[in-house]
Formats: sequence, structure tokens, C-alpha cells
Amino acid sequence: MPVPSHPTRRALLFGTAGAAVLLAGGPRTLLGTGAAAPRPALPVADTAVLLDAAPVTVDLGSQTVTTWGYGDRVPGPEIRVTAGGTVSARLRNNLPQDTTVHWHGVRVASAMDGAPWLSQVPVAPGGVFDYHFTAPDPGTYFYHSHVGTQLDRGAYGALVVEDPDEPLGYDAEWTVILDDWLDGIGTDPDEALERVRDPGPNPMHSTLLGGIAGHIAYPHYLVNGRTPQAPEEFTAAPGRRIRLRLINAGADTAFRVALGGHELTVTHTDGYPVVPVTVDTVLIAMGERYDVLVTLGDGVFPLVAAAEGKGARAFAVVRTSAGEAPPASVDVAELHGRLPRLSDLIADPSVDLGNAPARGVDLVLSHGTKGTVWTLGSAGDFDTPLRVPVAVGERVRLSFTNTTRMWHPIHLHGHTFQVQRAAGRGPRKDTVVVRPRESVTVDVLAENPGEWMLHCHNLYHSELGMMATLGYGDTPPTGPDMPGMSGPR
Ligand code: C2O
Ligand code: CU
Repeated sequence: MPVPSHPTRRALLFGTAGAAVLLAGGPRTLLGTGAAAPRPALPVADTAVLLDAAPVTVDLGSQTVTTWGYGDRVPGPEIRVTAGGTVSARLRNNLPQDTTVHWHGVRVASAMDGAPWLSQVPVAPGGVFDYHFTAPDPGTYFYHSHVGTQLDRGAYGALVVEDPDEPLGYDAEWTVILDDWLDGIGTDPDEALERVRDPGPNPMHSTLLGGIAGHIAYPHYLVNGRTPQAPEEFTAAPGRRIRLRLINAGADTAFRVALGGHELTVTHTDGYPVVPVTVDTVLIAMGERYDVLVTLGDGVFPLVAAAEGKGARAFAVVRTSAGEAPPASVDVAELHGRLPRLSDLIADPSVDLGNAPARGVDLVLSHGTKGTVWTLGSAGDFDTPLRVPVAVGERVRLSFTNTTRMWHPIHLHGHTFQVQRAAGRGPRKDTVVVRPRESVTVDVLAENPGEWMLHCHNLYHSELGMMATLGYGDTPPTGPDMPGMSGPR
């Protein structure tokens, strides 16, 4: 599926069938044409989109499934806006359950954050909610349902905030959304949740893995909604410089991504620029995004996303010449090559938060004792849902210690923190993996008032209790419309 690169002006209008309609108001540069010259500044453009949350039947390539998505496709429509522009998104709920949309990684006002029973009352079946926000920071983001297990159905899509004055030179870009898929294939995510909650002796449970990066052996792993049997093909001319926007929308799977025959230059983590690092592969946990630049060789190349610890992969094809595509099972040496560690990544100076003193808060990732399976709490009390109080302008240093044997990609809503390294400051991120028995420390500059979720982005962990909040002021606001964490989630 060819992806148009940077029309000089664009606007998304409400579509009629739940699809976003892309109108380019000026000449378009088509993919793979043009030189890697600095691009002219984009005018700030606003975007309007209709997100019709509804049951949908989609073709994954090798199999047709019925799931819940936005409009008629999975992933949902890609939303693009220029930084400083506004997004108006009308959510229509045609699902049989409540729903919300969360703009993952975007510094929106709290009321637009889509956190059910925390920032908004979820939208009931048949209801409508208008999200309206300014996209302040350029980068690669995504949106997804934040109710129940809907994220592990098809309720997600890419959100790209273009830099009106893009400093990177590249010819074209390709959004690559990774996902783990089981919905409609003899099971659904609610059933999977029960299996993760209570892995009993039922033979059904044999799909549960004893892995450290995820629990579930999924029947499929997808790139842009396609199985490896019928992969998406990205085409460009040889020698072109491509920006890959890699997004992990999976619920329970980390992916190790490589492009056969190519090096990757990492330019952004979770939307924010880093000092570029050239590597062979990147490991992307649930909720994380990496932007990488590649200069394409001449041929037909495999893009592989190996499901970490699961012995299976997602797959797509990059084509710059005629010829047969490699099989999905092709050996890709880069998967075993240079992999950046968190400590190899450093924020670009333009987004460095500096090192003013910060108030320390210790958080523990653990197992509960009162029926919750996974917890994010304070030392000595894992079971009480934790609220970290902050004040506007304050700098807080959160230290997460993982006492469990699994990975936890911890995500904070409404903010992009800076990871602290032994040797100094690391990358800006909104989702950071805390590995088994490890600690990770991040600095948050508190400058976006509201109540914000802080949780593991393994959907099954957050659904089973690995959820806290960060809130401004000593006590959360209360009232019939703001039941805080006390309402159903
Ligand atoms: Cu993408 Cu609260 O999550
Ligand atoms: Cu977790």
C-alpha cells in the first residue's frame, strides 16, 4: 500500500463511512520521488476525523476475522496533523460496550485523555464524544481504546504529528504498526484475560507461555493489519532515504525489528529526538515507538518483527526492484546484530530536561496479595491503588523497581519523561521497559495539570491491577462525573 509523503497542505474531513478522508490541497510528492533535501516548512494544518468504533470484518491477509475497530479497517485511519495544529476527532460508539479513545504519548489536556473513570466518563453504546486537542509536539504516536481489552481487538491506529520545520532529511516515510492478534480466531481478548488471570490446568491454557516478555502465544503477528502470508509491500526507488515510524500496538508482545541487508539509524524514541545511533535491530515493547532512517539498497528486502520469546514473527516487504519477495521465514542476520540498550540512547539537547534537583518517589512492580495479580504500588503496600501527588512546576524522579520475573513497559499519560542513566541523562520517553529484577529511574516535569494514569502497557497486566495514577494536588477531584479510580474500569 503506497503511502503518500508530505502533501504541502493537508486536512482530514469527517468521512461518511467512518473513514478519514484525506484531502491534499496542493501538489503531492509521491513516495520515493524527490531528493533528500530539507523540506519546505509546512503550514500548520488542523485535522478532523470520525472514529466509528464498531464491529468490523477485516481481511488479515490469510484469514478474515470479525473484530472491533475504527471504521472499516485495522489499523484505524492514520491521523496526521502538524505540530501546533488541532485534532478534532468524533468518537461514535457502535460497540456493545463502553469505550474511550486515548492519544498515547500526546500532551493533551486531561479531559481529552480518554482515561475511563479518571479523565472522562466512558462513552456508552450509541453515544458520541468529541475529542479536541492541540498536538503540541511533533513525533510518532498512536491512539487506542482505553476500555477493557479493546486494545487487543482492532481498536488502534497511528497518530503522526508532523514537524512544520522538519530537521531530518528523507524522501518518504512508512508507518509500521506491529500487533499481536487473536481476536476472532477461536477466542477473544476477554477469554485471554481470564487465562492470564487464572492459568489453570485446562488444555486451552497451553497457549500460555512461561516467557518474560509476554504471556500469550498468539495465532498471528501483524504489520499494518497483515499476516506474514500476505504481507504489505512498501515500494521506493533504490538509494532513497526512508523514515520508518515503528509503533508497537500489541497487547502482550515485544518485537525485535530488522530490515534485511540494512542498518537502522534511530532518530526518535516515543516521538522525541535522540542523538542518532546506528544499529542493526531495535527491540520495541508494547506502547513504545521508534523512528529510524534507512537508505534503501537495490532489491526486495524482508522487514521482520520477531515476537520476543515467542518463536514467531510479523513480516512485511520493502521493494526497490523487480523480483520475488523473500519468504517470511527468511533468515535475517541483522536480528542478531547491534541492538541499542536504553543506556545507548540520549535525548537530543533540544528536548533534554536538564538536571535540576527532583523529589524522589519509589514505586514497586509486584504481585498483589488481595486478589490483584499484578501491582504498581509503593514499597510496603502493593495492594492499595497508588496516587502520586505532584504540584505544577515540580520535578519528580520516579524509580520503578521490578520484583517480578516479567517485563513491564511502564507508560505515563500526559507527559514525556526523561530516563536517567548511570552515566547521565537518557532519552525522552513516555513508555519505558523495566526488566525483571531491574530498576529504572525517570524524571517527570509536572506541567500538565490533571489526573493521569501510570501503568504497565502489557494490557493484561494493567487489566489485572498494574495501574497507578499521578495527580496534581494533594487529593484527586471528586464529584459525580469524576469518580476517580473508584468507578468500574
Ligand atoms: Cu497506551 Cu494508558 O495507554
Ligand atoms: Cu507488566
